[in-house]
Amino acid sequence: MEIKKVVVIGSGTMGSGIAAHLCNANIPVTLLDLKTEISEQARDKIHKSKPPLLLDKSKISNIKVGNILDNFSEVKEADWIVEAVVERIDIKHDIYEKIFKERKKGAIVSSNTSSIPIKVLSQNLTEEEKKDFCITHFFNPVRYMGLLEIVKNENNDLEKIKALKKFCETELGKGVIVCNDTPGFLGNRVGVYAMQIAMTEAFKMKLSIEEADAIFGRPMGIPKTGIFGLYDLIGIDLMADVLKSFIKELPKTDNFHEVAKEIPLVKNLIETGYTGRKGKGGFYRINKTDGKKVMEALNLETGEYHVSKKINIKSEKVDLVALINRDDKYGKYAWSVTSKIIKYASSLVPEITKEFNDIDEAMRLGFNWTKGPFEMLEEIGVNNFFNKVDEYGNNDFLENLAKSKNEKFYGERQKYTDIETLGKVKKKATSIDGNNSAQIYRFKDYNIVEFTTKANALDYNSMDALKKATDKPLIIINESMQFSAGVNLSYTMDFADKGDFKSIEKFIRYFQETCNHLKYSDCPVISAPSGLTLGGGVEVMVHSNFVVSHTNIVVGLVETIVGLTPAGGGCKEMLARWLETEEAKKDPHYAPLKVFDIIGYAKTATSPVEAEPMMYLRAEDKKIMNRNSLLEVSKKILEENREFKAPSEIKFNLPGKTVKNEMIKILEKLYNDKVILDHGMEVGKELAHVLSGGNTTIDKILSEEDMFKLELDSFMRLIETKKTQERIKHTLATGKPLIN
Ligand code: NAI
Repeated sequence: MEIKKVVVIGSGTMGSGIAAHLCNANIPVTLLDLKTEISEQARDKIHKSKPPLLLDKSKISNIKVGNILDNFSEVKEADWIVEAVVERIDIKHDIYEKIFKERKKGAIVSSNTSSIPIKVLSQNLTEEEKKDFCITHFFNPVRYMGLLEIVKNENNDLEKIKALKKFCETELGKGVIVCNDTPGFLGNRVGVYAMQIAMTEAFKMKLSIEEADAIFGRPMGIPKTGIFGLYDLIGIDLMADVLKSFIKELPKTDNFHEVAKEIPLVKNLIETGYTGRKGKGGFYRINKTDGKKVMEALNLETGEYHVSKKINIKSEKVDLVALINRDDKYGKYAWSVTSKIIKYASSLVPEITKEFNDIDEAMRLGFNWTKGPFEMLEEIGVNNFFNKVDEYGNNDFLENLAKSKNEKFYGERQKYTDIETLGKVKKKATSIDGNNSAQIYRFKDYNIVEFTTKANALDYNSMDALKKATDKPLIIINESMQFSAGVNLSYTMDFADKGDFKSIEKFIRYFQETCNHLKYSDCPVISAPSGLTLGGGVEVMVHSNFVVSHTNIVVGLVETIVGLTPAGGGCKEMLARWLETEEAKKDPHYAPLKVFDIIGYAKTATSPVEAEPMMYLRAEDKKIMNRNSLLEVSKKILEENREFKAPSEIKFNLPGKTVKNEMIKILEKLYNDKVILDHGMEVGKELAHVLSGGNTTIDKILSEEDMFKLELDSFMRLIETKKTQERIKHTLATGKPLIN
């Protein structure tokens, strides 16, 4: 079975997301709704979406639109018809009747339902029709969420389901988990329970919402939106509907009921329009006081808003064991929530899945957790868990484990896929070295470096790990959300605050040395980025000999935003790339001006399609839809390059003053137009200095070392200024740029 054409019916949040993602995979798709205007509006929304649902906005017209009356015959040509209309069984049944009358023989029909069992959806279908019918449950936003749950019925043609799974894995890049027909399948059953327990325990233990989010967030390996932030993001009203459907579907004995009871405060929020970010606000809201936007948080006891407080739990690292053993309210909350999630998830084995590992992976792919409940249990330790837990009645999984006390109960990971993923390889690899910022693994004849800091920010230790690992072919890859958000700014600011600029200089030199080493060591180095790849992260990537990029990268040299210029070889490598173009060979100003434009404006690309024209990525770099495949593709490159020879050094002929003057003219115009202010001018001038080659002329040859020196000197001059320090502090505190 080949999928060459798809029709999606229902152009709301999910239908449009699915259509956009099919477009990303270059599959012709038609989006149908009740009226053509509705699907047209949906297509406009796709075009404007942020973060963008499309890899390449210019392909938007590959999504055809229409309505279900005039254009239903589109279904005749489709190999796959996805139903994503409202969650109403009568409407869905009507649609299926129409689809099965029109579809070509053998075409797959699937529903995106989040809560209706397949036996109910398919109750009016013939045995023959049931063969080709299943649930394909995508997560929102479709481009970015890794999970796709497929639910079969007893009549399915298994070969076809296999082919669909393969298609969704390879072409759409999804982590596809085949689930049983149970309410909420895997992801939502456990994920929504986890959200509810995190919320209800916060109420019970009288934690503020900021405190709960500070714990049920990064310290537990959960996205920093936490629980109340996530509620606001999803929509408090939508969550209430989800809970109602669970209450309706699940047997009375299921522990879900305990955490799904209506909370008067939440009911009141919905009734007064405080439905979250899309409404007037929710648990958090932005309020304007004296013309300034202020983040406020809801007091769970009084229902009143107060200025949101930043909670410092005094622990930067993700260390679940330390967290649950803390002798304070945070430790108690973390343990209560974690142990209840473990108890609930394990109570569902084997009913909702035989493979408990699938639950962990669903949490990873569908909720962006770094570890699922069973991995949390493994990390806590089986003996420790049973010493600490009170009761776990009616739970076969835990009862058996309590008997065996098998600390190594876990076994393999990512069983849902045949791909040799990083997750699987890490289990088999030897951890040969590591520090607080990175881990080095050895597998067969190559090394893997995985960064491990918050947003994988880079510091001296990260560089140390990279340098050490180049004794073998090296793959730089990780499982967390971001490849690297760049150099650790708070690490740098700590030195600046003490006036210890020598240490900053030492770090930058080491950064440069390491990047050089990545490029020129005898063994090939591959970067396999996904997610944020910014600043120093780009510098690591562009110094690697090969790149295997996930299509969901956000890539850019963004240093100017914090009043700095790239100093780990970012300017050097970008110049080198642009100098190779035909235009640059004719016009010596071309390359420096292009790079000035890109780095000066801190331009970022949100996909490889956007990154290539800026030359953050090269044509020969691999671009991969399925994140799980990054390691396999990297490994293949290593195999193909057994005779690898490091590249030869680059030489630069740069125009110096003439192009610098042109850049300064550009800056002066921006300054006069008030696009940049005084310090923007200073930063721009430093960048101009580096990219023009400093005090050089076109006939002089500059080495890479000379370029590193220019970068370092400009960086040091800038970091010593008060205004750059103010920019950094502001960004660290607010996550936003300061224009000064
Ligand atoms: P939505 O309300 O955003 O969109 C539904 C669309 O269906 C609307 O554009 C509506 O005009 C259209 N529609 C209604 N009746 C129709 C008919 N007879 N023919 C053609 N179109 C019709 O809904 P959303 O959120 O996109 O949900 C769609 C499905 O996906 C539901 O089954 C929902 O349970 C499921 N789902 C939703 C998720 C979410 O986060 N919103 C996540 C996963 C699944």
